Amino acid sequence: MADTNDIQTFVKPYLVPEGSELLNRSLETMAASFAVTDDKIREIISGMHKSMKTGLDHDDPDALPMIPTYVSGRPTGKETGTFLALDLGGTNLRVCQVTLKGDTTYSLVQQKFTITQEAKEVRLWDFIAECVGVFLEEHDLRPQPGKRTIPCGYTFSFPIYQTGIASGNLSMWNKSFSVPNSVGRDVVNLTQSAFQRHHVPVEVVAVLNDTVGTLMTSGYSHPDTQMGIIFGTGTNAAYWESLENIGKWSGPDRKGEMVVNLEWGAFDNATDVLPYTSHDNKLNRKSSNHGLQVFEKMISGLFLGEVARNAILSLVDQRLLFAGRSSEILNKSYTFDTAYMSEIVADTTPDLSTVKVVLEGTLDIPPTSLIDRKVVQHVCNMIGARGVRLSAAAMSAVLLARPELLTSSISVGIDGSMYQFYPNFERDLYAVSRVFLGHAFVDNNLKLHLAKDGSGVGAAIVAMTVDRDRQG
Ligand code: GLC
Repeated sequence: MADTNDIQTFVKPYLVPEGSELLNRSLETMAASFAVTDDKIREIISGMHKSMKTGLDHDDPDALPMIPTYVSGRPTGKETGTFLALDLGGTNLRVCQVTLKGDTTYSLVQQKFTITQEAKEVRLWDFIAECVGVFLEEHDLRPQPGKRTIPCGYTFSFPIYQTGIASGNLSMWNKSFSVPNSVGRDVVNLTQSAFQRHHVPVEVVAVLNDTVGTLMTSGYSHPDTQMGIIFGTGTNAAYWESLENIGKWSGPDRKGEMVVNLEWGAFDNATDVLPYTSHDNKLNRKSSNHGLQVFEKMISGLFLGEVARNAILSLVDQRLLFAGRSSEILNKSYTFDTAYMSEIVADTTPDLSTVKVVLEGTLDIPPTSLIDRKVVQHVCNMIGARGVRLSAAAMSAVLLARPELLTSSISVGIDGSMYQFYPNFERDLYAVSRVFLGHAFVDNNLKLHLAKDGSGVGAAIVAMTVDRDRQG
């Protein structure tokens, strides 16, 4: 098939006619380096299929982790009951009490605790126990009569190799976490021991990835859900796979299906197919998990702003932007928040007044020209567009890996700040997917749903099924 988006299509919108020739040549080179053409997406889809297949067959450090999750029963929407759920994300810890109403709806009471830097680097487990203790006390929750503990579902948004529904060993930290003595250990044990130390009467009966929680939550309200995705601080997906296709699964059942956590942030760490630039490399080299989660670093909220900062500074260094001047703030890593990118790309005022406020007011850059502001908006757009095209490529790859699903209507549950707040993210996901999944299928059969607070609700759903099975 002919490439409908050649490099020129990507380069043109990013030129600034009133700028110098040198500036435009640099923008052209930059836009070409961030471009993700349709052919590139086809390459990525086929690379992902290969990597998924290998990862399903055996654990291979160069392939996608494809982690079997021990979650094998689809929600029906009829589940009822009130359950405790913990949701450890990249930024917040949410403690929730979720009530499943049995009519595909739910309600929840939740308390959000911002995870402190100290918790991210030193005392996470005690921090979690303290927060859960506060929640129980404030909501006056205690074990049911005759029981010693409250059962709880636990969403853990980092890669763990599960050894059971309530056990899993941490394979690595990411998203700037680095709690010592944790990698290789069972995160449920670590959390449960902290509960004991703090006299918190809670028992984790299920541990799951946030993508699995999102999949289950969406499935509770939309039974045709096949996939759960997080486009947030990090990015990842989980989907229903037939057990016959999971060669490495060594459990007793070989029939039926199971949710598989792809850990797609780890796709193509060798950058064989990804459109990886020197700006990505700069970020990667300085990160605590250098060489890992490379795909995630090109897509997710924690990193996009930093890629943009690197790209902006490269133009400053060439004296093509801000008359060659930066600011102390902009010179520091991770000061250009992805939320600023959202504000900048959404600015439609003729003089780009929001861009001006962000650059001069927030980042303390000396007075900017309209050309400067246009350039910054273009750079943000290039990087944002690359992110959404790569996101759509990954989603399409997973759906295309199970072609039998593409014959009927399907839902995909999605949560995360990029999906919720990055301008036109959902619209562009649909638009890009149309090219690869087919216009008719996307327009008639594909529904993307926001699974808000999906990780917490999903944890409660899984905890409920475990509790139900236990009671026989
Ligand atoms: C990171 C984690 C993954 C999680 C994702 C989204 O990629 O490795 O487990 O699902 O972030 O939060």
